[in-house]
Amino acid sequence: MTPTPRIGFAKPEPQQRTLGLGVIGLGTVGTGTLKVLAEHQKEIQRRLGCNLQLKVICSRSVHKQDLSWLDKPVKITSDWKKVVGDPEVHIIVELVGVLATARDIAFATMAAGKHLVTANKQLVAQYGVELVERSRTHNVGLGIEACVAGGTPVLHAVREGLAGENFTAVYGILNGTTNYILTEMERRGCSFAEVLAEAQQKGYAEPDPTFDVEGYDASYKIAILAMMCFGQAVKVADIPVQGITRIDQVDFAYAHRLNHTLRLIAGARRRTSNRLEIFVRPMMIPTASRLAGVKGATNGILLVGNKGGNTSITGRGAGGEATGVAVLSDVVQIARSIAAGGSSLTPFGYEDWHPSRIATPDENVVATYLRLVVRDRPGILGRVCAILGRHRINIDSVLQEPDCEKKRLPFVMTLEPTAEKYITKALKEISRLPFLAEPPLLLPFAEMP
Ligand SMILES: NC(=O)c1ccc[n+]([C@@H]2O[C@H](COP(=O)([O-])OP(=O)(O)OC[C@H]3O[C@@H](n4cnc5c(N)ncnc54)[C@H](OP(=O)(O)O)[C@@H]3O)[C@@H](O)[C@H]2O)c1
Repeated sequence: MTPTPRIGFAKPEPQQRTLGLGVIGLGTVGTGTLKVLAEHQKEIQRRLGCNLQLKVICSRSVHKQDLSWLDKPVKITSDWKKVVGDPEVHIIVELVGVLATARDIAFATMAAGKHLVTANKQLVAQYGVELVERSRTHNVGLGIEACVAGGTPVLHAVREGLAGENFTAVYGILNGTTNYILTEMERRGCSFAEVLAEAQQKGYAEPDPTFDVEGYDASYKIAILAMMCFGQAVKVADIPVQGITRIDQVDFAYAHRLNHTLRLIAGARRRTSNRLEIFVRPMMIPTASRLAGVKGATNGILLVGNKGGNTSITGRGAGGEATGVAVLSDVVQIARSIAAGGSSLTPFGYEDWHPSRIATPDENVVATYLRLVVRDRPGILGRVCAILGRHRINIDSVLQEPDCEKKRLPFVMTLEPTAEKYITKALKEISRLPFLAEPPLLLPFAEMP
């Protein structure tokens, strides 16, 4: 895609050393952002050398809210268009969560020549290329740090700190809810359902957890991260997604026997063909790998570069104030650019985008963990092995935990690296075997440091 030439942001007059901020959306992140801003105002001012002032806040129910905790009086409105139209506002922070509204706010903000900061991963994953084009057309800044890994500044690290690197892969634990569930299952030997129910009670998981546990949340985040690492316009719909609902305690028992553990990994890898392999799936990862140490609701990202090697970054992936720090970091960066009259912001780190070239999962060559739960009877192993052999899949090992119920007997096969298309075909046949008590579970072994 040919980039629109960039020109500098309108430089404020020397007497205009105050930049006005408008915040739309006063939920978890909106409130967290305002609280951090109130507490860190002086420090931020020292960093900026100009005055950043909150001018207006907005949510539909703002007039019913107790805002006594705000340190200074500000304008309030329930109509986001008034924030966009406010002449005192230069930077707008969009934190409404609803995709269609967020898109309308984003487009209107840019059309009004104002700078935008958003935490909406769906907005950025789906409309990222368009947002960048519009930000160029209207010559405004676009901040997206809070969209991936909440308070962990991975996008800044990729865009700025590692701008000289050529990435070969990025792997992330990008969803705190699923990582909390998996690591609690591992730590306490509980089932998925037990830990999920408890997480919902404590407010760590949504009443409808589908978006998190089925991997969709992580797919938006890896789409953004992959765009940032590889400069390709990745489409979320092209990302194969598998959630964690089928993971059982017994999988951790087998994983440990194999010196591995299980995590929901959102990853993107550059193939030698220059195509991207991109996925969200639970994976067996070596216990010595950096991401194995990422526990609870923490997020972790491992960036693999062909010169600098491995860089990992971990931190808070959600929460009002932690995410508020990421939002404000974007505000600070935009404010610095405005003050300098510059245009240093390239939100995805690339001026020249390539269309995405995604490899199909079939082309992946992976070693896999195959867990079968069967009603025990003679000849089971022979039939499974015959199918695998027919598809030219080599078995590496067969494992069985002792003392399991004969009616629901789990056993595991580890398979040598094979193209996934052969494994998928074999799995279809295995799924039809009459002695299976539940569908087979296939998990790839991740090759990661
Ligand atoms: N929660 C996290 O830890 C986290 C972390 C990283 C990123 N994010 C992202 O940050 C964004 C905000 O998340 P959140 O958790 O803060 O959401 P939230 O708690 O549901 O808050 C959303 C806010 O937007 C307001 N709102 C909704 N529609 C509006 C409209 N048409 N006009 C004005 N205000 C409107 C809501 O209040 P009214 O109903 O009163 O309008 C509410 O104050 C989302 O995109 C989310 O994905 C969240």
